[in-house]
Amino acid sequence: MKIQASVGLTITIIAVAAVVIIVAAQPRSATAVAAKPAVVLPAASTKAVALFLPPTEQDMPKNEFGQIVKLGRDIFDNTGQYASAYVGPTNLRCSSCHLDAGRLAHSAPLWAAYVSYPAYRSKNKHVNTFPERMQGCFKYSMNGKAPPLGDPVLVALESYAYWLATGAPIDAKIAGRGYPPVPKPALPADYGRGGQVFEQHCALCHGADGAGRLDAGGRPTFPALWGAKSFNWGAGMGSIKNAAGFIKANMPLGLGGTLSDQQAWDVATFMDSHERPQDPRFKGALAATRAAYHDSPDDMYGQIVEGKIVGKGSPSKENAAQVGSQ
Ligand code: HEC
Ligand code: HEC
Repeated sequence: MKIQASVGLTITIIAVAAVVIIVAAQPRSATAVAAKPAVVLPAASTKAVALFLPPTEQDMPKNEFGQIVKLGRDIFDNTGQYASAYVGPTNLRCSSCHLDAGRLAHSAPLWAAYVSYPAYRSKNKHVNTFPERMQGCFKYSMNGKAPPLGDPVLVALESYAYWLATGAPIDAKIAGRGYPPVPKPALPADYGRGGQVFEQHCALCHGADGAGRLDAGGRPTFPALWGAKSFNWGAGMGSIKNAAGFIKANMPLGLGGTLSDQQAWDVATFMDSHERPQDPRFKGALAATRAAYHDSPDDMYGQIVEGKIVGKGSPSKENAAQVGSQ
C-alpha cells in the first residue's frame, strides 16, 4: 500500500496547478486570483494524517483493461460527452464535485469510495453496491438518469475507481474519504451573510447568477451552483451540511481551507436556498416531499426564504417526471 506521510507538497502542487489552469483559462479572473500573496494550504492538509496515494496516469495499464480504465476517467471528467445518454441539460461533470478526476482527498475521492462498498445507505434503506451508489449521482447530482447495472458506462467508471484504489485497504473509514465535516459555527447560518461571501469569493468564477460558465466548445469551465443546469433537489450537495464540508475543504478552487466555518455554512445556506431542478422523487406537493426526504434543519427545501417557498419555482418539472421512474 502506498502511503504518503506529508501531503502538503502534493496539495500545494494541486493548488498551484489549479490557479495556473484558472489563469490560463480565464484571463479576467487571472489578476484577482494571482494577486493573492500565496497559496494557502487546505486546513485538512495541515494535519499529519497518512493519506492513500492513488497511482498516476502514467501507471495506467497498457492493455484491454487499461483502455476501459481510461474510458472511465474520460466519462468522469467529461460526462456530458462520454455518457450523454444519461446526463440531462446540466453543466456539471463528475469531477465538478469529485475534484482532480476523483483523486483529491477530502473531495469524496473515488479510491476511498471504491473500498467502502457495499454499504447500507439510509437514503434508500438498503445495502448499495458501488455501481448502485454511482447511479445515485447520475440521477440526482447530474440531474440525469441512472445507467442500468452492467451498462458499459458503469463498468468503465467502476474499472477506473478500482484502478485508482490499487493497494488501498478495504476500509470505509479510510482517511480522506468524503468531505470533512465542518462544525456548526457560533451564529446560526445566514442567507444575507452568505450572499456577501458569495459575491466576494465565488461569483468571479461561478457567475453572479450562480449559473457557471461554459468554454467555447460548450464544456463546463465553471459549474452551476444553482438554476436549471445545476444538481437537482435530491442531490447530496443540496444538504447545507454536505455543501459546507465540500466548500470549506475545496473552495475557492485552489484556496481550500481559507474560509472560516461560519463563512462556509453561510455561503452553503445561500447556495442551497436557490432554485434548482425538482427532486425526482417529488410527491406532487412540496410539504409531502419535504416530510419524506428533506426533513432536516440543514435543508431549505420547502422552507420560506426571502418571502418565497424554496422548491416552488424549481425548473424542469417535466424532466423530473421523466427521470422519476428510474
Ligand atoms: C453536484 C456534486 C456532485 C456531482 C456532479 C457528482 N457527485 Fe458523486 N457525490 C456527491 C456528494 C455530495 C457525495 C456524498 C459525499 C459524502 O458522503 O461525503 C457523492 C458521493 C459519491 C460516491 C460515493 C462516495 C463515498 O465515499 O461513499 C461516488 C462513488 C460518486 N459520488 C460518484 C459520482 C459519479 C460517478 C459522478 C458522475 C456521474 C458523480 N459522483 C457526480 C456530489 C456529486
Ligand atoms: C477560481 C475559481 C473558483 C472560485 C473562486 C470558486 N470556485 Fe467553486 N468551483 C470551481 C471549479 C472550476 C469547480 C469544478 C471543478 C472541476 O470541474 O474540476 C468548482 C466546483 C464547485 C462546486 C461543486 C460543483 C457545483 O456546481 O455544485 C461548488 C458547490 C462550488 N464550487 C462552490 C463554490 C463556492 C461556494 C465558492 C466561494 C466560496 C467557490 N466555489 C469559489 C471554481 C471556483
